[in-house]
Amino acid sequence: MKKANIVLIGFMGTGKTAVGKTVASALDMKYLDTDLMIEADAQKTIPEIFETLGEPAFREFETEAIRRITHLRGYVIATGGGAPMIEENLANMKRAGVLIRLTASPEVILERTSRASNRPLLKTPNPMKKIQSLLSLREPQYNKADYTINTTTLSIQEVAEKVIKIWESQPS
Ligand code: S3P
Repeated sequence: MKKANIVLIGFMGTGKTAVGKTVASALDMKYLDTDLMIEADAQKTIPEIFETLGEPAFREFETEAIRRITHLRGYVIATGGGAPMIEENLANMKRAGVLIRLTASPEVILERTSRASNRPLLKTPNPMKKIQSLLSLREPQYNKADYTINTTTLSIQEVAEKVIKIWESQPS
């Protein structure tokens, strides 16, 4: 049976948001970003949540937001990079849709994430080291996705086309 939604997982800077929006508009589906759900629930930005409530509180908001996506249909859902580290989240994301993981090289991740200042986890003196250690910690969970697309040398449009092909290949 065709899955209800497309769920994008993967590290910060792998293109989940940009690709998700492009895919949603191409397929005439709705777009949702769990980070935005969390900000709406907490009435704070992600950096503010980390700063004032701490990462464990952020993860609780995240798990709650991901519980809610299991009730949706017809959405392209971009999720936060750390979400698959909690088994309940991974199980709920799998229930919600076809799970597509985006990857990129650490160098490209660093370049893409250094353009914005909204990633509290990368606000460290050596972000490259942090990217590498988080990537290796998270790899086993990311690997549980149904599909993987390496975005290192691809444009947003090219990645979106691959996502669309995967979606169209799903049984109806
Ligand atoms: C995080 C990724 C962020 C956001 C938060 C924590 C992570 O989302 O959820 O800053 O743990 O990797 P993006 O992957 O959309 O940047």
